Amino acid sequence: MVARKKQVGVGLIGFGTIGTGVVKILRDHARDIEARLGAQLKLVRIADLDTRTDRGVRMDKGVLGKDAHGLIDDSRVDVVVELIGGTEPAKSFITRALLQGKAAVTANKALLSVHGLELAKIAEKHGALLGYEASTGGGIPIIRSIREALAGDRNREVYGIVNGTANYILSQMTKGAGSFDEVLARAQAMGLAEADPTYDVDGIDSLHKLAILVAVAFGKKINPARVHVEGIRHISTADIAYATEFGYTIKLLAVARDTPVGVEARVHPTMVPNSHLLSQVGGAFNAIALQGDALGTSLYYGQGAGMMPTATAVVADAIDAARCVLGHRAPSVPPFGRPAREIRVAKVLPMADLAHEHYVRFKLADKPGVLAKITAILAKEEIGIATVAQHEERAVRGAVPVVIRTHRVVEGALKRALNRIDVLKDCRARPVSIRVEERLGERN
Ligand code: HSE
Repeated sequence: MVARKKQVGVGLIGFGTIGTGVVKILRDHARDIEARLGAQLKLVRIADLDTRTDRGVRMDKGVLGKDAHGLIDDSRVDVVVELIGGTEPAKSFITRALLQGKAAVTANKALLSVHGLELAKIAEKHGALLGYEASTGGGIPIIRSIREALAGDRNREVYGIVNGTANYILSQMTKGAGSFDEVLARAQAMGLAEADPTYDVDGIDSLHKLAILVAVAFGKKINPARVHVEGIRHISTADIAYATEFGYTIKLLAVARDTPVGVEARVHPTMVPNSHLLSQVGGAFNAIALQGDALGTSLYYGQGAGMMPTATAVVADAIDAARCVLGHRAPSVPPFGRPAREIRVAKVLPMADLAHEHYVRFKLADKPGVLAKITAILAKEEIGIATVAQHEERAVRGAVPVVIRTHRVVEGALKRALNRIDVLKDCRARPVSIRVEERLGERN
């Protein structure tokens, strides 16, 4: 019989917010973790370029240094946790660990969304664990749920709210707390939003997470550059007010469907009916829904960002890795739930060919015949109008907001029509369109 180790060593690269959370959990939950593992999960080394800032956690002398390569190669380190983000040098660090058969655990969605398959191949070849639960949905165990709990189903759709910052801003705007710029500025002052919020508010972070969800849910690799992405900067308090009036809540959704001809994947603000559970997901929370042939809809809700929630996901992966180390075995489940060679590169369906219902807000000259011009252009593109709303009292300087709700319309046709309307003299601002998802979770 092989003698069991009594300690599994963790090396942490990147001592920022999440890294500090990992250190706290390994310290505060040490007894529980030891009871689960039958061995200690011990932080033996940390590498960060900043060795001076006080993170509020005490550690033994000599644990913190700058040498990431030395940490990875250290024989006491069994599990390498990468929390620096970005593509390089994160990719090289993870690769170096996996090539030695060491486990790599990461929260790096930008890296995984593009290079996940490549890293999974290396991990599988070397019998090492590649853990990335923290990359998507923060503390929500969504990767494990899809990969393991839903392994018996065939997943057809995955969609939801995967960015806490954007959801916080939209939730505050819905509560009447101010415009996009005002709420963002307050969120930054409170430390809720990053100083550079681009990835969060422009949908890029959601895109990275969607690509990861597609890989694990459908076994397909998509090129994120081909995915339609819209953020929330253009959402105005007027749009929020109309949504509320019509019984909807605006959410930044990431949506993917697996179809026989390719993967439909998109990230954009969406009017979600107030009867749908996703409309109730407020603040910085995330919620991800799966639609499977056998299970139907299931929904996973929780804190998708923040130090401690995200750190729980990192530590859970480290515990999985420690089990492999203690059992002298390779992981029983491949990183994406199926061997990497089974993951197919899939075509992303062109957004222009997809059809949705839309809310469109125009700012039009307040005079007879203008609406007729608009409807004529829409009719030429065979865009059916379900409702029209105009509030006279909102007229400002001779222009009024006119809001229409379209029937299902092909995206390319709507874009052509809006481009033609935009150049009309009587159209006083670029029309704003927001997709309306009436049938989330109902395959179409
Ligand atoms: N910045 C992300 C968010 C958290 O706001 O959801 C990490 O994925």
